[in-house]
Amino acid sequence: MTTIKANGANIPALGFGTYQLTGTLGTDMVATALNLGYRHIDTARMYGNEVEVGRGIATSGVPRDQVFLTTKIWPDEFGHDDFLRSAEQSTKNLGTAPDLLLLHWPSKSIPLDETMAALVEAQKRGFTRFIGVSNFTIPLLRMATELSPIPLVANQVEYHPYLSQDALLPFHRKLGIATVAHCPSARGKVMDDPVIKEIADAHGMNPIQVTLRWLIQQEDVGAIPRTSSEKNAKSNLKVLDFELTSEEMEKISTLRRTNYRICDFDFSPVWDAAA
Ligand SMILES: NC(=O)c1ccc[n+]([C@@H]2O[C@H](COP(=O)([O-])OP(=O)(O)OC[C@H]3O[C@@H](n4cnc5c(N)ncnc54)[C@H](OP(=O)(O)O)[C@@H]3O)[C@@H](O)[C@H]2O)c1
Repeated sequence: MTTIKANGANIPALGFGTYQLTGTLGTDMVATALNLGYRHIDTARMYGNEVEVGRGIATSGVPRDQVFLTTKIWPDEFGHDDFLRSAEQSTKNLGTAPDLLLLHWPSKSIPLDETMAALVEAQKRGFTRFIGVSNFTIPLLRMATELSPIPLVANQVEYHPYLSQDALLPFHRKLGIATVAHCPSARGKVMDDPVIKEIADAHGMNPIQVTLRWLIQQEDVGAIPRTSSEKNAKSNLKVLDFELTSEEMEKISTLRRTNYRICDFDFSPVWDAAA
């Protein structure tokens, strides 16, 4: 499995997202994904499935030290003590400390210095191996790194062919952190894209496979597609077996002009302008 080396962490470039995979489906899909060959699982407190994800890892038979596990804490628990309680609870839910603990979104009400101190403390107390953030912009990421005595390893952000991250990516590379793409297939929207479809046909692949390949073929970029089906989980893994030409990469990159964002809420930060 291709890995991203980020400030001491080795993050498998292709991961498995678990948003909305709850109950038996969550446990079964995590175990299935691991048995198919995935080695990176993404969850969050907010998904309400940490227990199921932990069970899926335990029942898969894949040794724990071969799996890179990420969870995230929601901003309503960003006060110092709440954060530490929450991080400890995640470890209990998962039945194991995650490899990576992320701030799920920046908070507009709780000062970042308080939360970063708690995140660093959580790492010291063994509630995670590595720390990082999600949905952070360049100014927020700059603040977070300045506030942390230990390096961050990832910023998990929405990234797919319809959304430019041209400003953020070089900044991530400068900091040595991984870009982990959420909503990597734009929730399946790329399936109907004629430009991506044409490239997919040339490779005997489908547009989601081409899109995932386009992401992980970029320097220090990973992707965490989610699926509720074994067939699609298997199909998405094939992205490790082919390459896009530089012309094909560029052609897909031109689609970013639409700047279509799925995860945009009233609590979102002011996004970085496209480069
Ligand atoms: N940090 C954040 O704020 C944040 C926000 C959103 C998501 N995330 C993380 O990122 C992960 C991925 O994002 P997402 O789940 O929102 O969207 P996504 O992975 O872009 O899209 C998921 C959709 O794609 C479909 N799909 C996947 N593979 C397919 C295939 N081979 N053929 C056809 N359809 C396919 C799935 O349907 P089927 O189930 O039918 O296959 C599902 O409806 C999440 O699960 C979560 O872990 C993080």
